[in-house]
Amino acid sequence: MSQLIRNARILTLASPAGPPPGRPHRGRALGDLGVIAHGEVLVSGDRIAAVGEKVDAPADAEVIDANGRVLLPGFVDCHTHACWAGDRLAEWEQKLQGRTYLDILKHGGGIHATVRAVREATQKQLASGLRDRLGLMLREGTTTVEVKSGYGLTTEAELKLLRAIRRAATEWPGTVVATALLGHAFEGELEEYAKMVVKEMLPEVAREFPEITVDAFCERDAWTVEACVRLFEKARKHHPIRVHADQFNSLGMIPEAIRLFARSVDHLEAATKADLVALAASETMGVILPATGFHTDQRYTRAGFFVDQGGAVALATNCNPGSAPTHSMPFAIALAVRHCGLTPAEAIAAATVNAAAVLGLADRGRIEPGLRADLILLHHRDERQLAYELGGNPVDLVICNGQKI
Ligand code: NIG
Repeated sequence: MSQLIRNARILTLASPAGPPPGRPHRGRALGDLGVIAHGEVLVSGDRIAAVGEKVDAPADAEVIDANGRVLLPGFVDCHTHACWAGDRLAEWEQKLQGRTYLDILKHGGGIHATVRAVREATQKQLASGLRDRLGLMLREGTTTVEVKSGYGLTTEAELKLLRAIRRAATEWPGTVVATALLGHAFEGELEEYAKMVVKEMLPEVAREFPEITVDAFCERDAWTVEACVRLFEKARKHHPIRVHADQFNSLGMIPEAIRLFARSVDHLEAATKADLVALAASETMGVILPATGFHTDQRYTRAGFFVDQGGAVALATNCNPGSAPTHSMPFAIALAVRHCGLTPAEAIAAATVNAAAVLGLADRGRIEPGLRADLILLHHRDERQLAYELGGNPVDLVICNGQKI
């Protein structure tokens, strides 16, 4: 069965001058959304079959009249910790009284509180919690989501999380990409713990999830630059690597991430201008997570500066119970334009085509023949409404893998 979406303002995110499939848009060219002001898209099965001002469609195609509204690729949320148990409401109240994220972490709360809850939960309970969040994400236009482990801190518990993510993925029409966040926090001495991760946890995880990306959190009271580098030197032989860096403190991880050809450096709120310039000149992408600053301490990444230097930026929710309790990509877009220096068009590209590039997915993030039919139709005729509106749901219709949701 085919579907013909007519009378739409189409953001293709593709242009003849743009980068090849799977490569990110860089610098201010990011704002080129490849607009077809008045056009049609034909979906056939799970693929986009044709795009243009007028396309040929089979006589029995279901017709969806967009009535001049905006059609764009489904959002790709490329950084989340959406598989967790328990809640962090009590410590959030402490934060409202002025206690910091890192102080809570240092004294055994924060990530460690979620680790305790995850260890007590069954794989089935973890999968069920994630499934609920995936349902919320889909309604707001997210059709591909990355989900990290990192709340296990033992090989067994990390595997339980990764299996829960895999299980929830099979019950969702969108795509879930799991990431092994093996260096999120530690128990005992970091030196010993990190050795255990490299010698035991990484090989066990790799055996069951051979292609998985490996991630770490480089921060004071989390993993040091040295520990991250030791993990990544080993992991990168078989896995893509990503790193959380410069969230609260600039510790020198960015040059190392560039040297190690990391896919991305995520956070960057505390990054120096010199490090942002170096990152912009490299193949490593920058991922911004503005819901984190909004929820914790009002510090945001200078993404506008990074883009001006020619950097490749992506945008994500960071959905997690501690620093970013949101599943909404429209909300992340609204924050990125208010606090990070992106234009509405740039934020949309960062949330679609560039976020797909972070995950190494060349078959989505754009509206082009042959690509996966992940599409969203807004309530609005002007895409700037996506960034303008706060707290509503601008998405009217989601087509995920060719299915109307
Ligand atoms: O990206 N900062 C490290 N990891 C997450 C937060 C996880 C948590 O607090 O539970 C982040 O912000």
